[in-house]
Amino acid sequence: MSKKINVFDYAETILKALPDGILLTTKADDVVDTMAIGWGFLGREWEKPMFVTVIRDSRYTRELLAKNKEFTVNVPLEAGDKVTEVIGFCGSQSGRDVDKFEACGLTQVPGEVVTVPAIKEFPLTLECKVLYEEEQAVAKLPADIAEAMYPADGGPGAAPHIAFYGEIVAAYIVE
Ligand SMILES: Cc1cc2nc3c(=O)[nH]c(=O)nc-3n(C[C@H](O)[C@H](O)[C@H](O)COP(=O)(O)O)c2cc1C
Repeated sequence: MSKKINVFDYAETILKALPDGILLTTKADDVVDTMAIGWGFLGREWEKPMFVTVIRDSRYTRELLAKNKEFTVNVPLEAGDKVTEVIGFCGSQSGRDVDKFEACGLTQVPGEVVTVPAIKEFPLTLECKVLYEEEQAVAKLPADIAEAMYPADGGPGAAPHIAFYGEIVAAYIVE
């Protein structure tokens, strides 16, 4: 069961949750992964409601997005220790090494429009289809941000971000 929503009625909820972390879920070849995101944009372009996520090129999520250009955004509606724990785990472990759904006891709920699932415990859901993607040019950033976020010797953790522009094709709360 789910309750359909107008995503912009929940803009404040979504954007205020971002700094503590929300989840972004992907699926390809029957592998489902989720990761914490703290950055993102909700808005409109091309006459469509959009969520833009920025994912470092080194993430497993990025590999899955290359294979299946769909994702769900999963926002908790109640703060608590469980949410903090899940964000910490899914924001530090890679789906290359661990099944985060199993490890965190998260429940997948089939997507309504996309092939990627929603998450029962993070019920506010945006289903998105990627319309456009672009690697952000570190050379065009102010030097202080470039040095802090993308140090030259920083390894995979300093890889550039790729902006994925997702059309929001469904928005609801899992009940
Ligand atoms: C609160 C929080 C926010 C994060 N936000 C982002 C983000 O916006 N973009 C990003 O690429 N990584 C972000 N990360 C790091 C990823 O969640 C982390 O590297 C994760 O292990 C990647 O998982 P994957 O390899 O399965 O894709 C964040 C981590 C935390 C804890």
